[in-house]
Amino acid sequence: MFTIIACIGKNRELGKGNKLIFHLKDDLKFFQETTLNHKVVMGRKTWESLPQKLKNRENIVISRQNFAGPDQIVHNLDEFIEKFQNTPEEIFIIGGATIYQKFLPFAKSIYLTEVDTLEPTADAFFPVFDKSNYSSKLIKKGTEDGLSYQITRYIKN
Ligand SMILES: NC(=O)c1ccc[n+]([C@@H]2O[C@H](COP(=O)([O-])OP(=O)(O)OC[C@H]3O[C@@H](n4cnc5c(N)ncnc54)[C@H](OP(=O)(O)O)[C@@H]3O)[C@@H](O)[C@H]2O)c1
Repeated sequence: MFTIIACIGKNRELGKGNKLIFHLKDDLKFFQETTLNHKVVMGRKTWESLPQKLKNRENIVISRQNFAGPDQIVHNLDEFIEKFQNTPEEIFIIGGATIYQKFLPFAKSIYLTEVDTLEPTADAFFPVFDKSNYSSKLIKKGTEDGLSYQITRYIKN
C-alpha cells in the first residue's frame, strides 16, 4: 500500500533548485514520526538533496543509474508498483515531483501539509489531484514563522 507524504504551497509548489522550499519544524517532525521504521521511496534527485540517509527507515531510491548509499535502488518502477501496491505494509512515497506524479494513481492516501503562501520561483510542483475523489481528515493546523499551514490526510474514496 502506498501513502504519499508532501509539503506544498498554494500553487502546489514543492521545491526549487533541488531544495525544499518550506522548513516548518512541525511539518518535519510530523514527517519524521509518520515515516519512522517504514520504507520510504524517493526519486534520485530528492535522494541527492538529502544531507544524509533518512535514519531508521529503509531508503529506496528510484533511478536508472547505480550508486552507493541507498538501502535499495529500483530501476524498474512499474515492476515495483505492481509488486507493492496491494501489500498491507504502508510504504511512504516522499517525492519529488516526478515520483509523486507516477505514484498518485496508486496511492491510497496522501498526507499533505498545505502552506498558505506562494513561491513564484518554485521549479517543482505536486501533481494536480481532484480532492472530490478523496475524503479528508484534518490532522493539525498551525502558524510558524508567520506561515499558516494545515496537515490533512486525504484518503481515496
Ligand atoms: N515539498 C516536499 O514535500 C518535497 C518532497 C520531496 C522532494 N521535494 C522537492 O522536489 C524536487 C525534486 O523533484 P524532481 O521531480 O526534480 O526529482 P525526483 O522525483 O526526486 O527524482 C527524479 C529522478 O528519479 C528517477 N526516475 C524518475 N522516474 C523514473 C522511472 N520511471 N524509472 C527510473 N527512474 C526514474 C530519475 O533518476 P535518474 O536520473 O538517476 O535515472 C529522475 O531523474 C526538489 O526540489 C526537492 O526538494 C519536495
